[in-house]
Amino acid sequence: MISMIIRPREAADLGEVEALVARCFPPERQRRTAALLRGASDPLPGLAFVAAETDVTGRIGRIVGAVACHPVVWEGAGGSRRTLALLGPLVSHPERRGEGIGLALMARTIAALDRLRADSMLIGDAPYYGRFGYGAEATAGWRLPGPVEPERLLLRARDPEAWAGPARVVPARLRPVRPRMAPPDPGLRAA
Ligand SMILES: CC(C)(COP(=O)(O)OP(=O)(O)OC[C@H]1O[C@@H](n2cnc3c(N)ncnc32)[C@H](O)[C@@H]1OP(=O)(O)O)[C@@H](O)C(=O)NCCC(=O)NCCS
Repeated sequence: MISMIIRPREAADLGEVEALVARCFPPERQRRTAALLRGASDPLPGLAFVAAETDVTGRIGRIVGAVACHPVVWEGAGGSRRTLALLGPLVSHPERRGEGIGLALMARTIAALDRLRADSMLIGDAPYYGRFGYGAEATAGWRLPGPVEPERLLLRARDPEAWAGPARVVPARLRPVRPRMAPPDPGLRAA
């Protein structure tokens, strides 16, 4: 019997994760708005996970799911700038769909975001992500570097009102502060 674990993504996983993402999205994915927002940023520390198969002996095998959060910058009309976590891409292996891999990766990511007290956004299907508290109510006034369907621009925040209104969301050009270096109630910040 093949089972599965969720574990933090490691540097050595990168090639396998990229191959899985390439298998799950069409080639033009790199021109999509979410990809433009991620830019060349690294995932936020502690916010990238993989699902890996395990056999009966507990031996860990191939990667069958992945998710990561990258930093983006939200610029409000009043000139305020705040870092927000952009969740995605979330993928599960085409042969293992509908087995709970996507939801397990999401649950792990949400727990990590909550531990960091980090608000997050994504571009995706509200029926899937709504169960984790993502909604489009606060994002109507946001402008992104590419097109997005308003009902797919989703935010999960402790205080959604604080993110509402006209704003630009742009790629983070600076490295994020690692959580252990951050002050007691950091949320996420650009360095
Ligand atoms: C989206 C994706 C990660 C889901 O992974 P998965 O491992 O098959 O999902 P799970 O088995 O954990 O979840 C299945 C549940 O989600 C639901 N679901 C799956 N995709 C959905 C969608 N796009 N919209 C609404 N619900 C969806 C299923 O109906 C099922 O619901 P149930 O638990 O009520 O029966 C996977 O289909 C995938 O990799 N797709 C290609 C990449 C992609 O589009 N990623 C999302 C970017 S927005």
